[in-house]
Amino acid sequence: MTIIRSPRLVVGITGATGALYAVKLLQRAAELDVETHLVVTPAGLLNVHHELGLDRKALEALAFQAYSPGDVGACIASGSFDTAAMVVAPCSMKTLAAIAHGFSDNLLTRAADVTLKERRRLVLMVRETPFNLAHLRNMTAVTEMGGIVFPPLPAFYLKPSSIDELVAEGVERVLALLGLKGAEPQSWQGL
Ligand SMILES: Cc1cc2nc3c(=O)[nH]c(=O)nc-3n(C[C@H](O)[C@H](O)[C@H](O)COP(=O)(O)O)c2cc1C
Repeated sequence: MTIIRSPRLVVGITGATGALYAVKLLQRAAELDVETHLVVTPAGLLNVHHELGLDRKALEALAFQAYSPGDVGACIASGSFDTAAMVVAPCSMKTLAAIAHGFSDNLLTRAADVTLKERRRLVLMVRETPFNLAHLRNMTAVTEMGGIVFPPLPAFYLKPSSIDELVAEGVERVLALLGLKGAEPQSWQGL
C-alpha cells in the first residue's frame, strides 16, 4: 500500500515588516493540507506582535509544528528530514545576509542552508527599501545558489480592493512557486 502524506513546508518568519504575509501563508497552507514546520526569530515575533497583536502561542497554533530558533537539533536542521520546500516570509536583510553566506547560526538559517544544499526550493520574501549594495549582492548570491528572491510587491493590475486581498494574492503566488498543489494565483487574461 502506498502511503501518501501531506507535503512538508518549512516556514521562517523574521523581523522584517509584513507579518500579515506570514500569517496568511500559514493559514492558506493549512487549507491546502500542507504540513507547516515553523521557526520564528525573536525579531520576527516582535513584529508579529507589533503589527498583528498576536503572541507566540497564537502564531504557533497556526502551524503543524513549531520550533525555537535556538533548537539547532530539530528535525528541520537535517537534510535527511524530507521536506518539499522552504519559505521565509517576510525575510529581513539580516537573515538574507546569513543565508547568502551559509551562516547557519540559528535554526531558521540552518534550515535554509539545508534547503539549498538538498537542492530544494527556497523562496525568500525579502522586505526592505531602498536596497544598499550589500542587500543586492546577497540577493544575487542566493539566486546563484538556486534560491528565489520574491519581494512581496503588489500586482496593482489585479485591482485589489483591500490589504487582505493584496496580501492573499502574493501568498497564493508564493505557494504556487513553491510547487504546492491547489495554489491558484490569479492569471492575467489580457485586456
Ligand atoms: C517595526 C520594525 C520593522 C522592521 N522592518 C524591517 C524590514 O522591513 N526589513 C529589514 O530587513 N529589517 C527590518 N527591521 C529590522 C530587523 O527586525 C532587524 O534587523 C533584526 O535584527 C532582524 O533579525 P532576524 O533576521 O533574526 O529576524 C524592522 C524592525 C522593526 C522593529
